[in-house]
Amino acid sequence: MGHAASNLAILGLQWGDEGKGKVVDLLSPRFRHVVRFQGGNNAGHTVVVNGQSIALHQVPSGALHEGCFLVVGSGVVLNLDVFQQEIDRLKARGIDVTGRLLLSEKAHVILPHHIALDRWREGGSNPIGTTGRGIGPCYEMKAGRMGVRLGDLLSPALLPDRIRQGYEEVRLRVGTSVELPPLDAIVDDLRKVSAPFLPLIGDAQAHLYAAWRRGESILFEGAQATLLDIDHGTYPFVTSSNCSLGGLFTGTGLPPQALGGVLGIAKAYTTRVGAGPMPSELHDAMGQRLREVGKEFGTTTGRPRRCGWFDGPITAHACRTNGVHGLAIMKLDVLDGLDEVGLVTGYRDGEGRVSTRIPSCAPDWDALRPEIRMLPGWKTPTRGVTDPASLPKEAQTYLAALTETVECPLAYLSTGPDRHEGCIYPDAFLGDALRS
Ligand code: GDP
Ligand code: IMO
Ligand code: MG
Repeated sequence: MGHAASNLAILGLQWGDEGKGKVVDLLSPRFRHVVRFQGGNNAGHTVVVNGQSIALHQVPSGALHEGCFLVVGSGVVLNLDVFQQEIDRLKARGIDVTGRLLLSEKAHVILPHHIALDRWREGGSNPIGTTGRGIGPCYEMKAGRMGVRLGDLLSPALLPDRIRQGYEEVRLRVGTSVELPPLDAIVDDLRKVSAPFLPLIGDAQAHLYAAWRRGESILFEGAQATLLDIDHGTYPFVTSSNCSLGGLFTGTGLPPQALGGVLGIAKAYTTRVGAGPMPSELHDAMGQRLREVGKEFGTTTGRPRRCGWFDGPITAHACRTNGVHGLAIMKLDVLDGLDEVGLVTGYRDGEGRVSTRIPSCAPDWDALRPEIRMLPGWKTPTRGVTDPASLPKEAQTYLAALTETVECPLAYLSTGPDRHEGCIYPDAFLGDALRS
């Protein structure tokens, strides 16, 4: 068998936008294959190189490294229009993915009526605050056995029949309130937009299995994050895929033995886009400051992100759910210059009891108030620091308290958006992989 020890998963530990894109880009040169295994273009992963920012939605964030082979796994839902635009944008910036891209024939296709249904539902009385990209309806169609898979595009004559049932069900649901494109037009557009991709559609499971057996290294790029996981997140305010570790196996078809380690990604504070519980949210000037300094506006939708202190209990829950070996703490520099920095260490319920337990049901979150430990801030900037020993003493104390609340060691610390802005913890499990 291949060297599972070198295969690594990058998973978000909060509500998304932790900085997964930066870490995947940073580590990609050490990996032969970079794989997306769930989510779709609800994801927005930003990579910054020499001050130039590139947002990726469906193309794996290893794209910037020519030696990386890019795989879109079976658990992904793909919007082919957006995918084409993304590839064109990359090309315009001198990044060519030709010859190093494989799309799973089992991945599902996002269709116009999925997007229409997503937006129609969000206009109703119980909005989730979705990205409006048709993600939920596409996964619903998959579970309802009426989805369209990339492999179906290889038999174009069968496409109208493949699409019809889902299309008719959406039409019944939205009635005349939403104008859907005619089925013929959807089929025609799909044939056109999919044409350049047909040669890239294949057996991604077999490709990855063979790569693993040959000992080629694989980096698994999570999208969204554990608190948005459809089973283990803050249901119903979640996305429609398993963004925690289980989704890696179903979304690639690889067995657990193929995985060597899990790097969990978390910001030094907490953000969330869309509705749902967030006990650490700051509604005051401090929340506003974090948003402005951290540029906390969605990569995909531009919406302002809700901001709060680092939430120990949710991140600890994510570490347990994913078997995280080491933490990458991102955006420490955003906390530079504060008098005090807060850390949520537990929640107090309506009866005054304090616990670190994570409720399973949405209403149980309402009564919880965060227990916040305030620690001294630091005046010396951490921006761009590359040696953990030269961090201000107060920042070191804060990080020690943070890792204690989640019971997981630090493997990487990010101190700015650019590739070179960050510290490696050489004694952590990633030491060799991260050392340049
Ligand atoms: P992802 O969805 O997890 O890939 O994260 P996003 O790309 O949506 O959001 C993370 C944002 O933070 C991006 O704009 C990154 O360029 C930026 N970023 C990443 N690491 C750092 C950091 O250490 N400091 C600062 N200031 N920005 C960072
Ligand atoms: P990355 O990969 C942050 C959120 C949406 C909404 C909920 C459901 O960049 O971390 P959906 O469109 O998926 O049905 O929306 O999930 N959401 C994200 N929030 N980062 C993301 O991706 C997200 N993808 C979905 O805001 O609350
Ligand atoms: Mg993002």
